[in-house]
Amino acid sequence: MALYKQKGEQNEQADSRSPLAQASGEQHLQETQQLRQVIGCTSGRFVFSRCFYYNENMLRIRKIKSSDWQYFCKWWKDEDLAKLTSGVSESSEQVLRGYFKDMLKNSQNYYFMVEVDGQVIGNVSLVFEAENVFEIQIVIGEKEFWEQGYGTEAILLSVEFAKTKLNAKKIILKVRRENLRAIRAYEKCGFELTEDNPKSPFIKMERKIS
Ligand SMILES: CC(C)(COP(=O)(O)OP(=O)(O)OC[C@H]1O[C@@H](n2cnc3c(N)ncnc32)[C@H](O)[C@@H]1OP(=O)(O)O)[C@@H](O)C(=O)NCCC(=O)NCCS
Repeated sequence: MALYKQKGEQNEQADSRSPLAQASGEQHLQETQQLRQVIGCTSGRFVFSRCFYYNENMLRIRKIKSSDWQYFCKWWKDEDLAKLTSGVSESSEQVLRGYFKDMLKNSQNYYFMVEVDGQVIGNVSLVFEAENVFEIQIVIGEKEFWEQGYGTEAILLSVEFAKTKLNAKKIILKVRRENLRAIRAYEKCGFELTEDNPKSPFIKMERKIS
């Protein structure tokens, strides 16, 4: 079965029942975890969203928009999140607003929000590094959604986007050595360690795309 379908593509799986209703018995777990559908995917930059069903919830990544500022403002001020990511927490809304405006204007990078059943839970970015190479950055800012598989699946959707839409050949990342949850999520998505310099708080990982 084709797991990914583009909008408008012939879909032999088309069925008015929900994907969950279509899955049954032994196949249920496998299909709820694996069934992915492209919705609203059209040609053109940033016009993209994907969804999949995981444990009966729909996860989607979609491009950021100006009204997402409220989430970034909250997450960027969160010191727990800062400790797991850049290490820098900024409290000035004026400064943060500037960062956000830069993101909206940026035409090299791809910024997505992660939604579960329509609720925004985090963001994932593909930052241009070099031709066919992007750096992935992810934050599931709503902590009650941690460790339910959503981070892993948002990373996989982003890798798929990078492969199919950006012709990426490699995705790279930096992660704090002590951030074992993130490292495990990246490993589950096929990322491998490429650099572990004890002088740096970050290790580097990458995933090659064939
Ligand atoms: C990192 C993050 C994206 C992961 O997403 P998530 O939805 O919470 O994680 P998942 O459920 O997909 O996977 C987490 C995995 O780590 C494992 N894990 C959790 N804590 C762990 C620990 N201390 N040691 C080892 N593995 C751990 C979980 O068991 C799970 O693996 P499993 O499925 O094999 O059991 C999310 O937690 C997050 O955004 N955290 C805050 C910001 C952050 O750290 N961003 C990454 C910066 S590089």
